[in-house]
Amino acid sequence: MNLESVIRLDYVEMQWMHPGGRDLTDRIAIKTELSKSTKILDIGHGRGTTAFYWHNKYDCDITAIDIDPIMQQVANSEMKKRDIASKRLKFQFGDALDLDFEENTFDMVLNEGVFVIPDDPLKIAKEMHRVAKPGGYMVFHDVFIDESKQDDVSFKQKVNEVYSIQTLTKFDFINIAESAGFTEIYTEDWSGIQEYNKVTDQGGGKYMFSHTQKTKLVFRLIRNFGIRTTLDLLRQERFATNAIKKRDMGHLLLIGKKKSE
Ligand SMILES: C[S@@+](CC[C@H](N)C(=O)[O-])C[C@H]1O[C@@H](n2cnc3c(N)ncnc32)[C@H](O)[C@@H]1O
Repeated sequence: MNLESVIRLDYVEMQWMHPGGRDLTDRIAIKTELSKSTKILDIGHGRGTTAFYWHNKYDCDITAIDIDPIMQQVANSEMKKRDIASKRLKFQFGDALDLDFEENTFDMVLNEGVFVIPDDPLKIAKEMHRVAKPGGYMVFHDVFIDESKQDDVSFKQKVNEVYSIQTLTKFDFINIAESAGFTEIYTEDWSGIQEYNKVTDQGGGKYMFSHTQKTKLVFRLIRNFGIRTTLDLLRQERFATNAIKKRDMGHLLLIGKKKSE
């Protein structure tokens, strides 16, 4: 049990399962000139927050995939609750490493927070590039570690323990995107504790959660997993908070384009 699995298991009431929250997702829409005619693949939809938000705001065509059946259930039951019957929004099973779509299918291939979870980010980038249309956008944003920490084995192990992710630097992100064929690469840094706090539209408080959310969460965790696991999770949260505050860990937005034919 680690912090990442707690977040995914719905013990944390997050709307946006990524730093930057809605602000970052809005920024992507602006940078990619999102409109009703944009056909989007959302890889690793989580609770479906971005897909619902963009469907509502732009009425664009969104296919959203996730490897976790729990996430599909969460998104599909939200779809029922909202009484959405549109064919322009669908949630289905899919693996970032092996996209079940023809090449040149989407105007935008979006990957929010699913770039460093699986063990082969280059394969993910190549798959994103394959299914994007010529001239289409490929977008990902995810956690990076600072250059100064790239040889710090114990730091990297700890990050992996807390988040179960690959530990890549900003430069690794850019190199991978280039190797996968992304052109016109554009990046923005969304690091810092204030960005990590934006996981609900009301903002959080102290790293991800308000004090009330955190108290409720601690009781829920103790009930479900006992005191020892709960204390361990709180230690993980402290480590992550410190790493973010010290900028040993950050969050990068990367946008690339597939070369027009
Ligand atoms: C940090 S959450 C991000 C969710 C959402 N994109 C957001 O930003 O709110 C990561 C999501 O990626 C999904 N995921 C992990 N590995 C995946 C894979 N190989 N293919 C597709 N989805 C994956 C997880 O199930 C989880 O829903």
